[in-house]
Amino acid sequence: MDLVSSLFFRLAVESDLADVVANEEASYEVPWRRQMFLDCFAEQFEFWVIEYQGQVVGHIIWQHVLDESHLLNICIVRTHQGKGWGREAMSFWLDSSINDDKSVLLLEVRFSNEPAHSLYLSLGFREVGVRKNYYRLPDDGKEDGRVMAKTLCSSESS
Ligand SMILES: CC(C)(COP(=O)(O)OP(=O)(O)OC[C@H]1O[C@@H](n2cnc3c(N)ncnc32)[C@H](O)[C@@H]1OP(=O)(O)O)[C@@H](O)C(=O)NCCC(=O)NCCS
Repeated sequence: MDLVSSLFFRLAVESDLADVVANEEASYEVPWRRQMFLDCFAEQFEFWVIEYQGQVVGHIIWQHVLDESHLLNICIVRTHQGKGWGREAMSFWLDSSINDDKSVLLLEVRFSNEPAHSLYLSLGFREVGVRKNYYRLPDDGKEDGRVMAKTLCSSESS
């Protein structure tokens, strides 16, 4: 069976938060807290959950600012990573941004997050800057983040 085509994207609702927070905590060393997801509803960010066979297996959140779309969070629960679902979630964001007439996609990624960095490079994102001490580490230290960008052409589709 084609697992990727079995994914279903829908806008998150507050009752998803238990699953979202559990997936986040299982997948990130320094996860977002519940309140940060609640803030995304308040700010009316694009907050989507990814379902597989009726279960919430990931989430993706972005913010539109003028002609830019800024990725705030992407997560595939650890037990389902490496199946092409992260790439599918990125395609979903790219396609949504094209449909919404955005021309620039932006994201940040930790220097140590090679899987995510490699995914973004493969999709045509390029490093455009560095945010010093942008990320917390589990021991309360700090880590730099790469700022990556991709310009969308009106004819582009992922
Ligand atoms: C980053 C993340 C979204 C990728 O999702 P995924 O479903 O595991 O990735 P995919 O199976 O779609 O793989 C897509 C690409 O990612 C890269 N990748 C994935 N796992 C990798 C690994 N262990 N090492 C190196 N590259 C890897 C590869 O470029 C891969 O492309 P390929 O399969 O053609 O080689 C997912 O691992 C995740 O949620 N991680 C925890 C949260 C996180 O770090 N989010 C990103 C914050 S910036």
